[in-house]
Amino acid sequence: MSLLTVDALRVRHRAVTVLDGVSFAIAAGESLGLVGESGSGKSQTALAVLGLLPATATVEGSIRFRDEELRGAGRAQLDRVRGSRIAMVFQDPMSSLNPYLRIGVQMAEVLQQHRGSSRAAALHDAARLLDAVRISDPRRRLTQYPHELSGGMRQRVLIAMALLAQPELLIADEPTTALDVTVQAEVLAVLDDLRRDLGLALLLITHDLGVVSGNCERMAVMYAGRIVEAGNTADVLTRPAHPYTAALLATRPVLEGPRPIRLPSIAGQPPDPARRPQGCAFSPRCQQVMPICQTHAPVLRQQRDRSCACHVGDEPLLPTDGAADRNFA
Ligand SMILES: Nc1ncnc2c1ncn2[C@@H]1O[C@H](COP(=O)(O)OP(=O)(O)O)[C@@H](O)[C@H]1O
Ligand SMILES: [Mg+2]
Repeated sequence: MSLLTVDALRVRHRAVTVLDGVSFAIAAGESLGLVGESGSGKSQTALAVLGLLPATATVEGSIRFRDEELRGAGRAQLDRVRGSRIAMVFQDPMSSLNPYLRIGVQMAEVLQQHRGSSRAAALHDAARLLDAVRISDPRRRLTQYPHELSGGMRQRVLIAMALLAQPELLIADEPTTALDVTVQAEVLAVLDDLRRDLGLALLLITHDLGVVSGNCERMAVMYAGRIVEAGNTADVLTRPAHPYTAALLATRPVLEGPRPIRLPSIAGQPPDPARRPQGCAFSPRCQQVMPICQTHAPVLRQQRDRSCACHVGDEPLLPTDGAADRNFA
């Protein structure tokens, strides 16, 4: 049974649809990478799962955690799940830590709140977790303030804090984007080790394909509020089925080699959600665009372990109104 099952999730802010039928599942202990350009709806997906969207947002579809429906859940139910069973790490560690409180005080508060631990027991557990995220001299770190730590260390503190309540699922939204490349690799390695040791499921959100390739068993690619391709990470990265995934891969920086190569980029911009193109939202930028792409949005179809929403390679999905038939003549 899946730990988290998101089904046909739609999110609207007034008349603007930002998520348009997002479905995915994460099994216990599994890691899923959610990738896509900025604005594709990754953070909105995470916020919807955690019930953190503004009250004015319209949310449709289903968000099941084990057998509990979270969509439309009240404050009390969400409070039971958030933090203790599903934890979250955001991009910017400085804004998630209280600058005026010592690290130990902030960590102990989480434990006292979730487990009713004594202060001494909470500090003991906090030190153990700092050690687990490979922070040296954890006892001393507990007495320091956030600004006394480096960016990479602060992000590891946040991961440790997220894990204090022993959640079953960790949602990490661009957890290493603010860090430089070597520190990023260290933080990701810590996350990966912890996940395996604790049997934690991970939803790792990133715009960086390099991050998913090393850290996620499965990946889903988002474009304009929809998942356009999903599957086993190694398979998707070696044989992308969707032209958008292929284009993302072609624009990946190659770090090896004598000198940096000039990167191609995907021509055009992702659509503004308020002005989504008719048909496939990627069609204006797609090198393989066909007439049907501009009139009919492809559905996400599953074949064995892979799903893909694209007309290329489909049986022609003949429109019923006859008008577009000429396009196939
Ligand atoms: N409150 C809101 N009202 C209207 N549009 C919003 C709101 N919040 C987010 N959006 C839009 O939703 C889209 C997806 O945003 P987001 O999930 O943050 O993207 P990502 O995390 O993939 O970069 C963006 O186009 C963003 O501008
Ligand atoms: Mg985001």
